[in-house]
Amino acid sequence: MSTIIPTARTPTRIVARRKPQHTVQAPAQHDGVRVRRGENTDLNELVMLEERTFDSDRLSRAQYRRHLDSDSAQVLVASASHNHFLGAVVLFFRKHSNLARVYSLATQPQARGRGVGTALLEAAEHAARRRGCRALRLEVQVGNARAIRLYEHIGYVRIGRYEHFYQGGADAWRYEKVLG
Ligand SMILES: CC(C)(COP(=O)(O)OP(=O)(O)OC[C@H]1O[C@@H](n2cnc3c(N)ncnc32)[C@H](O)[C@@H]1OP(=O)(O)O)[C@@H](O)C(=O)NCCC(=O)NCCS
Repeated sequence: MSTIIPTARTPTRIVARRKPQHTVQAPAQHDGVRVRRGENTDLNELVMLEERTFDSDRLSRAQYRRHLDSDSAQVLVASASHNHFLGAVVLFFRKHSNLARVYSLATQPQARGRGVGTALLEAAEHAARRRGCRALRLEVQVGNARAIRLYEHIGYVRIGRYEHFYQGGADAWRYEKVLG
């Protein structure tokens, strides 16, 4: 494959321009799950979810802060009634590329299996389409059966394997979904 593979969870260089505020990104609704653009007030929840979910390759608070205020990233947050924080997805875009990358996806442990991950991925697709992207790509640890099942269930296709992709040395599958 000729695509340049960014190091796992290495932050993409961010173009420091302000995003428009209060942009509605997606109409995704799954059993009362609403997906919206993340804001600075979500920082604590985002960092806590990151620490609770990932043992390595974590996004720091500073990185989340930059991504929340960047044109080349989008943080989308899933919530239920009373703004209850359920999960988040981080998307990266690159200048002059029509490929978007799902960098991170996580649902609160107690909220899994209720469609939150699906709603976040649908919102990511919606956001990528709005940016004129033709496809979404992502990497997933080869042993992460649950995430792999979810990705394949909603139409991602495996396109490569990358050795020692993660900080801990684990391999990754790369998946792609071509957007209709
Ligand atoms: C992978 C992950 C994001 C999935 O999130 P999720 O919110 O559980 O995802 P969903 O609920 O949309 O889908 C998961 C399963 O629940 C099922 N489901 C969806 N809505 C449902 C509902 N209302 N009732 C019952 N089951 C439902 C889905 O069909 C899917 O089933 P399957 O696994 O048999 O295909 C979550 O497990 C997670 O955060 N894992 C840790 C972090 C991680 O691995 N991230 C991905 C790699 S970076």
